[in-house]
Amino acid sequence: MTAQVAAPNFVRHQSLINWVNDIAKLTKPAKIEWCDGSDEEYNRLINLMIDNGTMIKLNDEKHPNSYLASSDPSDVARVEDRTFICSEREIDAGATNNWQEPAQMRTKLNSLFDGCMAGRTMYVVPFSMGPLGSHIAHIGIEITDSPYVVVSMRKMARMGKAVYDVLGADGKFVPCVHSVGRPLADGEKDVAWPCNDDKYIVHFPESREIWSYGSGYGGNALLGKKCLALRIASVMGREQGWLAEHMLILGVTNPKGEKHYIAAAFPSACGKTNFAMLIPPAGYEGWKVETVGDDIAWIKPSEDGRLYAINPEAGFFGVAPGTNTKTNSNCMASLAQDVIYTNVAVTEDGEVWWEGKTKETPDNLINWKGEKHDGREKASHPNARFTVSAAQCPSIDPNWENPEGVPISAFIFGGRRADTVPLISEAFDWVDGVYKAATMGSETTAAATGAQGVVRRDPFAMLPFSGYNMADYFSHWLEMGEKLEKLTSEHGTKMPKMFKVNWFRRDENGDFVWPGFGQNMRVLEWIINRCEDRANAVRTPIGLVPTYDDLNWTNSDFSKAQFDLVTSQDKNQWIDELNSHKELFDKLGERMPKTLKDHNQKLLQDIQA
Ligand code: GTP
Ligand code: SPV
Ligand code: MN
Repeated sequence: MTAQVAAPNFVRHQSLINWVNDIAKLTKPAKIEWCDGSDEEYNRLINLMIDNGTMIKLNDEKHPNSYLASSDPSDVARVEDRTFICSEREIDAGATNNWQEPAQMRTKLNSLFDGCMAGRTMYVVPFSMGPLGSHIAHIGIEITDSPYVVVSMRKMARMGKAVYDVLGADGKFVPCVHSVGRPLADGEKDVAWPCNDDKYIVHFPESREIWSYGSGYGGNALLGKKCLALRIASVMGREQGWLAEHMLILGVTNPKGEKHYIAAAFPSACGKTNFAMLIPPAGYEGWKVETVGDDIAWIKPSEDGRLYAINPEAGFFGVAPGTNTKTNSNCMASLAQDVIYTNVAVTEDGEVWWEGKTKETPDNLINWKGEKHDGREKASHPNARFTVSAAQCPSIDPNWENPEGVPISAFIFGGRRADTVPLISEAFDWVDGVYKAATMGSETTAAATGAQGVVRRDPFAMLPFSGYNMADYFSHWLEMGEKLEKLTSEHGTKMPKMFKVNWFRRDENGDFVWPGFGQNMRVLEWIINRCEDRANAVRTPIGLVPTYDDLNWTNSDFSKAQFDLVTSQDKNQWIDELNSHKELFDKLGERMPKTLKDHNQKLLQDIQA
């Protein structure tokens, strides 16, 4: 039998109610629950998951109100090869996206979702990406059969019944349908982490719909994040003249009180959360770094001749391994209470642990799979994460919820590269900056399933997240630059500068040369000074770079020899690099902007000269 319940009083949107009933007819849940975002609801769902074995409650003294969920070992990361952009025409998805003919995909989805929620509760989750009611926010409604998704969405987005007040009787929303794909037969006992080996993460960009099947974890299942705020929003942004980007946003204030906001795109698990919460090292007294966002930025040109960015999220879904009080005490302090951890290890007395949290591995550890840790495998999964409200971050910026956003002085692009790419370089101009971002390469990480440590092109850190043709995406950035040139010259404002960084150069022993984390402040200071026309730079064929003496080394023992290593440019490596950029451009096909292709040839000539 199909559940049909009348919508509660707080929902007054008839076509939304009809849609929910249509999805219920298709998925055939035992029950429908319209979520209101209350504490009562949150606690009830947490207890439900504890009873089901999905979660445990952690030691309340060490981790007040915090829980650990353990996923199925097959459901631990985004599944890029199962992610689809089903635009009407294949060319609009482009060479880097998986495309399927929309009608065929709908037939497939109809069969997958038919009865997929049997025996389960279907939750209707209203959420806003961006401050509630703000003109830049977008509303989504996620239908899901996963209580883990409901409690996570409450931290990651503005979730609750106030969303329906904003929607009113006919407001626009992005419909998001999610199922773990594991129906329950009559009387069948549930498993701790239901999911399905067959996974589909599907986007229909024209009708702005999202359908996700088979996974309960992260970007596969929390559909406000990568699916709505990047893939669908990038399509909206192109149509409407703005940018949806995989970028952190931070504010940096110098001792004189001058403040700059910076947006930075690094691929998944390449340091956004850490950079966004950077703590200036000793010698940087009077400097302050504040966090606006750690993963996604929506950026719009404003009447005053500048670009403004907002963080559409309300929480952090951050990588646990590698996080500790030395590398990121702001992040650790954000985790003081009210956290949902997934796939980390736990001690006998209910304290969480992951690789890199402390030097010593605690005794009697239970690993992320629930087994006794024997030291042969990692105790926590490399893509283990914490889910926490952004408001708990001690470095959160006073403007982080300002619906007008914050003005952006510079963009930083950075991948994870053992060689070739120097620590820091500045783009010659907007086109060169777009080129640097478009050709970014990075070693793959545990954030997605598949081989790890393989260098691949990840343009703008958006390879898995652009909802449309990557070549068109480059054109959109080039056009935004042209508009901005006009706007800045009219208003006497500055174009944002663009930089490329690489924190991950390795020496011949395979060790990182650059200490990273707080030490990245030295690079950030140079960037700010470049924005203020105060710092020196040397022209090289691949960009403007600082000399050793151009960076501030107060309290640092980083030597000139190490600096030379981490900033070196090898001619032969760069010829290979530029040729591999060309391969990407060739792959992107006929819509690839000629400006960037010509730029590639110019750089190749310059490096060979
Ligand atoms: P997503 O949430 O997947 O988008 O990742 P992210 O870009 O926010 O990456 P995050 O800051 O979580 O860092 C990922 C991993 O890189 C962690 O293990 C960090 O400890 C490590 N890391 C971050 N910054 C640095 C750095 O400056 N140097 C080095 N060597 N490692 C870093
Ligand atoms: C990423 O992979 O870039 C993430 C994690 O931020 S997820 O939300 O799973 O996409
Ligand atoms: Mn991310």
